[in-house]
Amino acid sequence: MMRPAAGTPVSRVDGRLKVTGRAAYAAEHDAHGAVRDVVHGVIVTSTVGKGRITAIDTAAATGQPGVLAVISHLNAPTLPYRPFRGVTDPPRGEHLRVFQDDRVRFFGQPVAVAVAETLEAAQHAASLVKVTYAAERPATGLDAPAGPPNQSENYQRGNVDQALAVAHTRISRTYRLQREHHNPMEPHATIAHWDGDRLTVWDKTQMVLNTRAALASVFGIEQDAIRVISPFVGGAFGSGLRTWPHVTVAALAARQVRRPVKVVLTREQMYTGTGFRPVTEYKLTLGADERGRLTATVHDIRAETSAYEDYREALLTQGQMVYTTPNVRQSYRSIPLDVNTPTWMRGPGAATAAYAIECAMDELAHEAGLDPIELRLRNEPERDPGTGVPFSTRRLRECLRVGARTIGWDDRNPGPRSTRDGNWLIGTGMAVATYHTARAPAQALARIGADGTATVQSATSDMGPGTYTSMTQVAADALGLPVAKVRFQLGDSTMPPAPPHGGSMTMASVGSAVAATCDKLRKQAIALAVADPASPLHGASPDDVVVAGGHLHLRDDPGRGETYRQLLARTKDSLLEARGGYQPGDEVERYSTHAYGAVFAQVAVDERLGLVRVRRVLGVYDAGRIINPRLAHSQAIGGLVGGIGMALLEHTVTDPRDGRIVNANLADYLVPTNADVPDVNAIYLDGNDPEADPLGVKGLAEVVIVGVAPAIANAVFHATGRRVRDLPITIEALL
Ligand code: MOS
Repeated sequence: MMRPAAGTPVSRVDGRLKVTGRAAYAAEHDAHGAVRDVVHGVIVTSTVGKGRITAIDTAAATGQPGVLAVISHLNAPTLPYRPFRGVTDPPRGEHLRVFQDDRVRFFGQPVAVAVAETLEAAQHAASLVKVTYAAERPATGLDAPAGPPNQSENYQRGNVDQALAVAHTRISRTYRLQREHHNPMEPHATIAHWDGDRLTVWDKTQMVLNTRAALASVFGIEQDAIRVISPFVGGAFGSGLRTWPHVTVAALAARQVRRPVKVVLTREQMYTGTGFRPVTEYKLTLGADERGRLTATVHDIRAETSAYEDYREALLTQGQMVYTTPNVRQSYRSIPLDVNTPTWMRGPGAATAAYAIECAMDELAHEAGLDPIELRLRNEPERDPGTGVPFSTRRLRECLRVGARTIGWDDRNPGPRSTRDGNWLIGTGMAVATYHTARAPAQALARIGADGTATVQSATSDMGPGTYTSMTQVAADALGLPVAKVRFQLGDSTMPPAPPHGGSMTMASVGSAVAATCDKLRKQAIALAVADPASPLHGASPDDVVVAGGHLHLRDDPGRGETYRQLLARTKDSLLEARGGYQPGDEVERYSTHAYGAVFAQVAVDERLGLVRVRRVLGVYDAGRIINPRLAHSQAIGGLVGGIGMALLEHTVTDPRDGRIVNANLADYLVPTNADVPDVNAIYLDGNDPEADPLGVKGLAEVVIVGVAPAIANAVFHATGRRVRDLPITIEALL
């Protein structure tokens, strides 16, 4: 038998394309020959955070050589705009109605676009557009909002007040997280090309079907008239889950100048042209009995949204299911501000909630004189404490045990500020990570051609985790072909529909669809062979036939059989094709399904300077089955590094006077670099979760950023005895 490809560390099948520059990213499709005669659009953005545009002077800009148009609300066509709710959008999506009125809703809003034959001409023209404003002071902070808070999202079980009144230990703390931006390497970019009433768009997106739906809504045309293409995405972390205003700008400009238009956001524009992880304030009260078992928790959360859309993320899930707690009360309010709308960013909701919950658990452990791991073990539930249903799998105890052993937890002196290395104070901290396993309906198309190789398609995306490779592995196993004989294609809205490439659901959803479709195709081939008098398998029972290495044969008599090629040579079109899909069933309600992790961090804090250096980060994960350990590892390391950024560096700073983002560049917005990540490692419990989905996977992308920031914050406390409750932890906070 051929060894299954799933579970093995296959190298990226698209790796060669990427390192040789042959992988076409959104802004490169003209250079790769997909579209000709492309002109360039450069967006002019508002320099005030709120107000009205009183005048736009475009005379100097339009007079420049090579300039084709300068479009603003003064001359833009009215967009039909049908309100829609995209799969990944909050209601309305009004941000896509660009250039429709004189209102400025946030700093950096597109107010005009200069279109020219060359990028340089368009940049120059954009710089010559003079916009005059009647400016107002924008509301950019949670405590001085643009309007009343949005309706609160609430949850309650048991009687919290009663339980807190008699609690043996009680702590109440407020944790704050600053705004963070995704900052993928590849900027957001769009090329739009109209052919009559048909629109083709090359876009950076995590869901081609979402971009298609958004454009259909904005331009009032049928989805069938639009094709969205996005074969490669250079990182996104959630920034590609929505369609952003520049996509409308490109399509609108292309229609006006009757040429394909390319719009690439500058790094600075990425800070206002896409979303971000919202500023969040999380007040948490914990009550526990004399043994450290939680009796009550109260979660009061406020997070920013824009004044024109109500963005929310899953901030309440963890507080309901992570620990046994009979009494829970939660409220979550989004606060409208004069900013652009936040959006999903890696581990959305969970990474934020885990920061508060896991720091508070550390504080409770300290207060109660308990080991932080022992405290978690004492609060480990047998069933989901929120819904009462069983966990599909929950191997958190094992994650904690393996992590503690690997990091040498028992060797640490538990006292804060007890360990030093010269001027460095040394600390070790830990935190628990969880992320809900999401699944969604997905479809795929699979074909085997005359040469015996297969092509499999689904309109999913690959922003970096290795979708091309993992899907190829799953398809190869189901078809009985080697990986080299299978090609997986994605990123085109004409392919069978797939859910957003986000929420860690791609492997579970699209992977299961690929497996089902390829199973169907293999069975089709077997059925054809056993029914064909010319086949050596004629008359055999289909159940006795297996396929390995592209060879169909009897399980008990490998000598009797034939290859896909031989079989197909006798068919009419020399082609076999199947469409299939995956539809989550009621297991979604019958089981509580989450990925789990135990995260450990060792830090050194310079006693005199307050400087924090991470020495080691380790995550141990229960993520179900791992399809490709090499890709999983890359995914996990990326998440852990993202968590280091969240803990110590990342912070988008807004000037309250005008809403300007002060550090809208990669020199001033700090992300971890190699020197910041000396020893980062991840371990996966060998496992399989058959209740989660047919592949047994639970999703890995999000859980690996969850819990990192609190593990580091808890390590900083252990090192210094100082509890910092605001992220990122800065030098100033430790001096
Ligand atoms: Mo991830 S925030 O679901 O791209």
